[in-house]
Amino acid sequence: MTLETAEAVEDLTMSTDGTAYIVTTIALLGGVLAFYYFYIYNNPDESEEEEQEPEEEKYTPMEPRDFTLDELRPYDGTEGKPLCIAVNHIVYDVTKGRNFYGPGGPYAMLAGRDGSRALAKMSLDKSDVRDEWDDLNDLTPFQRDSLSEWEMKFQTRYAELGKLLKTREKEE
Ligand code: HEM
Repeated sequence: MTLETAEAVEDLTMSTDGTAYIVTTIALLGGVLAFYYFYIYNNPDESEEEEQEPEEEKYTPMEPRDFTLDELRPYDGTEGKPLCIAVNHIVYDVTKGRNFYGPGGPYAMLAGRDGSRALAKMSLDKSDVRDEWDDLNDLTPFQRDSLSEWEMKFQTRYAELGKLLKTREKEE
């Protein structure tokens, strides 16, 4: 259709020499663009979609379970491993936030750790990511509110896996 239109336009404008060439070129360009547009929309299998899906397919959600701090440590996203973070004594699978928490990411220091104190204080200071159990009792009301907001954010964005345990001694 578009190519025929281009020819028709060419016939009509032949008499006006210089402009005939320009009009024909524009009409032909339009035809090529229209063809490309229909080709892409009718054959989506070869375009962008293929690149987007494999990322989602590769991701296998983690099984829900509780973690001690030590058990949480390996889930730091290194070597393609899943990523977990504890917020307010709840552990989340944050693997889909790899850009934030994965190796080299801006918040990698929170990966496999209890991120509560750092998030509550909006701090990336190492001393706010502790190796020992943190009861968080000394947080100010402001920091508690901030932590609650982070908790809500994690609840909506990531899968909850279980509790952060102080120790496993009682269970075993
Ligand atoms: C100059 C300072 C900072 C800037 C400009 C900044 C900026 C940002 C931006 C633009 C995002 C993406 C937000 C979104 O996708 O909804 C983000 C995410 C985040 N920020 Fe910051 N940030 C800063 C400091 C901090 C600090 C000090 C912390 C403390 C822990 C922090 C923790 C986070 C976390 C945990 C996320 C990821 C949330 C998620 O998993 O979706 N940020 N930040």
